[in-house]
Amino acid sequence: MIDQLDAIQSEALSAIEAATEGDALEAARVGFLGRKGKLTLASAGMKDVPKEDKPAVGQALNAARKAITEALDAKLAALQADADADAAAGIDVTLPGAPLPRGARHPISQMLSRAVGTLRRMGFALATGPEIETEWHCFDALNTPPDHPARNESDTFYFGDGRLLRTHTSTVQIRTMEAAPPPVRIIAPGSAYRRDEIDATHLSQFNQLEGLYVDTDVSLADLKGTLEYLLRSIFGKDTPVRFRPHFFPFTEPSFEIDIQLRVKGKAARWIEIAGCGMVDPDVFNAVNQARGDQAYDPDKVGGFAFGLGLERLAMILWGISDIRLLIENDTRFLRQFA
Ligand code: PHE
Repeated sequence: MIDQLDAIQSEALSAIEAATEGDALEAARVGFLGRKGKLTLASAGMKDVPKEDKPAVGQALNAARKAITEALDAKLAALQADADADAAAGIDVTLPGAPLPRGARHPISQMLSRAVGTLRRMGFALATGPEIETEWHCFDALNTPPDHPARNESDTFYFGDGRLLRTHTSTVQIRTMEAAPPPVRIIAPGSAYRRDEIDATHLSQFNQLEGLYVDTDVSLADLKGTLEYLLRSIFGKDTPVRFRPHFFPFTEPSFEIDIQLRVKGKAARWIEIAGCGMVDPDVFNAVNQARGDQAYDPDKVGGFAFGLGLERLAMILWGISDIRLLIENDTRFLRQFA
């Protein structure tokens, strides 16, 4: 029996040695250690071994099983190492990787960070508000009566429940004053929506930058100084800027600010880029009513507000003739700002 075990062991070891791939090795394992493998079948012979020989035969059996198992494991590891080496051999890790095109900030983002950077240096803090708004925050609190044209179905995107897509970021003026007493000095960038016909200077979704400054002793001179400083920091000190008297329900007096758009080969024209004015006392009254206090007593505090259109600022700075270029994501256009 011991001779037979020796024979099986050496047969197994040479079969394992000869295996050059995983399938052959697995066949060798099954052929010797499997349920009908040679060693397994041989071990059934234990029952016929005379009692006094059993320990020696048992030892030989265990030794053979151990030797075969170890040889299988070693060969498996060797085959795996060979396979890894082959795979790595086909790869030159020193080659440059597939290039990813380098991205760049969108011109609107660039314009936003310029404007925000300048205003923050002047002490304005960032504020935000929701794009889906109540009519109260968008219109009523801003002294805009129900019959005002801006509230028309044809001018504003309404939801069935009476809420709407904010038509301007002036809603954040109200939300900021509801939340905290004066002094307030905030800017609020964000999307605004109008049912405008899309053309070379209008989009139905666009970006505004709102500003609000409320304190004692805020004057029209502060408003003018702040906006002129901001616009000069963006466009350079020679840019033609004009303040044109206008009307907004929530400011009095009110102005629109125009800047001259000069596109090569086209006649220069004025483009309206901002609305602004001194906060109307009725806005403070609405805020006080919502707050349930007199924190914004119009006899004690005053302020100015402004709303800038970022697309238009970008168009003027970079001489972009059509606002739609800013939303088409054509990299031939966008690459020029990288
Ligand atoms: N909300 C106005 C608009 O969208 C702009 C504005 C803001 C005017 C603040 C005055 C004060 O046209």
